[in-house]
Amino acid sequence: MKFDKEKITMLTAYDFTTAKMVDAGGVDSILVGDSAANVMAGHETTLPITLDQMIYHTQCVVRGVDRALVVADLPFGTYQSNPEKALESAVRMMKEGGAHAIKIEGGAEIEDSIRKIVNAGIPVMAHLGLTPQSIYQFGTYKVRAKEDAEAEKLLSDARLVEELGCFALVLEKIPAGLAKKVTESISIPTIGIGAGADCDGQVLVYHDMVGMNKGFSPKFLRRYLDLHSEITGAVSRYVSDVKTADFPNQNESY
Ligand code: KIV
Repeated sequence: MKFDKEKITMLTAYDFTTAKMVDAGGVDSILVGDSAANVMAGHETTLPITLDQMIYHTQCVVRGVDRALVVADLPFGTYQSNPEKALESAVRMMKEGGAHAIKIEGGAEIEDSIRKIVNAGIPVMAHLGLTPQSIYQFGTYKVRAKEDAEAEKLLSDARLVEELGCFALVLEKIPAGLAKKVTESISIPTIGIGAGADCDGQVLVYHDMVGMNKGFSPKFLRRYLDLHSEITGAVSRYVSDVKTADFPNQNESY
């Protein structure tokens, strides 16, 4: 798709019913993101979610998907310490979760883990830029790699992950110009989120793009629905119908 200049589409999903709808909508790839920690479990960061929980979400998604490529995040702490542990986590995600590929955050720091997982025949998607599992090191969710030194490291990490055999690279919240440079410098596809229009594809968190998260409005987000208002409106109509004994009516009773 990169060579054909066909843009790649990716959305997150964490459950069977959503995965079914996202798949039916024609998305190329579904990410079972560790953003599940935020949008499904209500945590402030992605750090608390466990491998068992990510495997459960992945199993649910895989059951709903007929055609899209399912990529699952390895959560924080399951691949950084050593390559053996990284491979073990990746194998569990593929074997028990049923994922088609895994995603991990970082470049040179996790080089040995990436190599080990790729060598076991597991497709790896890399993730650079704003990597939320490092949020306590960054201290902020602001745009990354605005300064030359960080931009150069990111470019060199992008080349490295390609060399190591990663099949794609997520670029999160970096300047559009840098994302363009990275995209033109490597042959594997880049999938951007807050990384401008020149990436080979785009990814958004499903709950954000359908407007379920009222409080989250970063500049990069385009909302396609206002589901928060739709759902709270529907719930309050239901509450009112039950309270006034309008629901259920005769046609809705046996
Ligand atoms: O977990 C996630 O949803 C992600 C995307 C933001 C790329 O990693």
